[in-house]
Amino acid sequence: IRWLLSVLLCVCVCVCLYMPLHLFIVACCYFICLSVLDPQFYPARQSIRLDPKGKSLKDEEVLQHLPVGTTATFYFRDLGAQISWVTVFLTEYTGPLVIYLLFYFRVPFIYAPKYDFTTSKHWVVHLACMCHSFHYVKRLLETLFVHRFSHGTMPLRNIFKNCTYYWGFAAWMAYYINHPLYTPPIYGEQQIRLALIIFLFCQFGNFSIHIALRNLRPPGSKTRKIPYPTKNPFTWIFLLVSCPNYTYELGSWLGFTLMTQCLPVAFFTLVGFIQMTVWAKGKHRSYLKEFRDYPPLRSPILPFVL
Ligand SMILES: NC(=O)c1ccc[n+]([C@@H]2O[C@H](COP(=O)([O-])OP(=O)(O)OC[C@H]3O[C@@H](n4cnc5c(N)ncnc54)[C@H](OP(=O)(O)O)[C@@H]3O)[C@@H](O)[C@H]2O)c1
Repeated sequence: IRWLLSVLLCVCVCVCLYMPLHLFIVACCYFICLSVLDPQFYPARQSIRLDPKGKSLKDEEVLQHLPVGTTATFYFRDLGAQISWVTVFLTEYTGPLVIYLLFYFRVPFIYAPKYDFTTSKHWVVHLACMCHSFHYVKRLLETLFVHRFSHGTMPLRNIFKNCTYYWGFAAWMAYYINHPLYTPPIYGEQQIRLALIIFLFCQFGNFSIHIALRNLRPPGSKTRKIPYPTKNPFTWIFLLVSCPNYTYELGSWLGFTLMTQCLPVAFFTLVGFIQMTVWAKGKHRSYLKEFRDYPPLRSPILPFVL
């Protein structure tokens, strides 16, 4: 098959040299042959580049509009086995939901046998379970009904990395929060109430931003626009921040940390913050590069700071 493909590629190049107008058809033939003759290279795992170190060409890119002359060299790279984004998100988020509940219900083999299926005497433990479950149910529903993703797939190996992160942290946090020896926050009810307000405020803010981002992209398209504040006051933060969904996400986890006063939760918040800051900076840079009229006052994730 590889020999055949090589011959085909040579033919393509030769034909292209003499018939530049048919470059598009010939290139298409090549990549279709690659998929058909070697089915492991289905289109989603093919990366086609003009420059070996450059970015992959987008699916919607048209050959006639590429910066090439009468001939062009394309670099093929196998992206590895792919899995759909929706599957990834559903797997990532269902895990923490289920794992947390196993600890909450104190199923056998987690704590001492005398605690099997017992419940905590602290109401904050029940509240924390509701907040944690609410957060992941919200994320699952948003994945299914709100987000309009531009990428269909991601490498399969990422799912192992991401699941280890989400599932591992959920188990670690749940173990301590639902532990029979767990002690509630130091400032009691006042601290828990304040934390709940912060958590719910940020959850609603995060949802509002996701709706605003959804409305930027017509169904079925992959367009990317500058997000602006809408009538919803939760979106006004767009005046100062490029990725306010991450800002609200950070706020939610800070609220959850305050509510549970638990070190693993604080650690998860910190790691999530670092990760989201890296992504927010990347997205901010892309906005500045793509849109000349991008509002200059915005910061990636924290107004005026970061
Ligand atoms: N706790 C944590 O560690 C953690 C980490 C990351 C994320 N999260 C949560 O997961 C949520 C989703 O994360 P994400 O990284 O996928 O967020 P995101 O990159 O901001 O994307 C959210 C959705 O909006 C779309 N979108 C973003 N900017 C757009 C624009 N300018 N025009 C049109 N559409 C646009 C995205 O499409 P594309 O497919 O084109 O990007 C995607 O469908 C976050 O808001 C956060 O709540 C949590």
